[in-house]
Amino acid sequence: MARFGLLPVCAIVLCVLAQLSAQANDDNTFAVFRQKRYYFSDSFKLNWFKAMEYCRTRGMFLLSVRNPQEREAVIEYLGSTGYTKTHKGLWAWMSANDLGEEGEFYWSTTGERVTYPNWSETEPNDFKIDDCTNEDCAILEYWSEGGANYNYTFNDRSCMREFHFICETLLD
Ligand SMILES: *[C@@H]1O[C@H](CO)[C@@H](O)[C@H](O)[C@H]1NC(C)=O
Ligand SMILES: *[C@@H]1O[C@H](CO)[C@@H](O)[C@H](O)[C@H]1NC(C)=O
Repeated sequence: MARFGLLPVCAIVLCVLAQLSAQANDDNTFAVFRQKRYYFSDSFKLNWFKAMEYCRTRGMFLLSVRNPQEREAVIEYLGSTGYTKTHKGLWAWMSANDLGEEGEFYWSTTGERVTYPNWSETEPNDFKIDDCTNEDCAILEYWSEGGANYNYTFNDRSCMREFHFICETLLD
């Protein structure tokens, strides 16, 4: 693990097999192999809005998990951080939210609708926090004792709550 300490904390490069590029999503023969960079804020938490802004200041975007390949890639990256060896759970903001229209989740950093619904059991539940706050922003969650239901799945949370978060670079 000491080896990883020598790398810039913000830049661990990972090769991932990408799904189709956005421009060619009707053509299943078109696939690209890309290098994606990730950042995981393992030492501090922010609310969803500030997490979005933090990623932008690094030239990155809050994470979107649009298909099984992107899920596998981010799981592999998070594994490389060693975080789940020392923590039983992981909760990190992604870009999905239904702030624009209740019940309709979109990845705010790509503008795409969430069509790969990998929600934890009984989620999203739009839980009511108080008179003016419901849960409208999504985290990626892992709980070591939760089995398949909390296995890097999605859960809506109050956007103003502070969580760790994950930034990524996007394909042009
Ligand atoms: C999440 O996605 C993975 C792989 O795509 C799948 O195996 C798993 O069943 C999904 N989990 C839920 C809760 O949808
Ligand atoms: C969690 O997801 C990973 C990656 O898809 C998979 O290898 C693993 O078997 C899953 N674990 C459970 C308990 O479903």
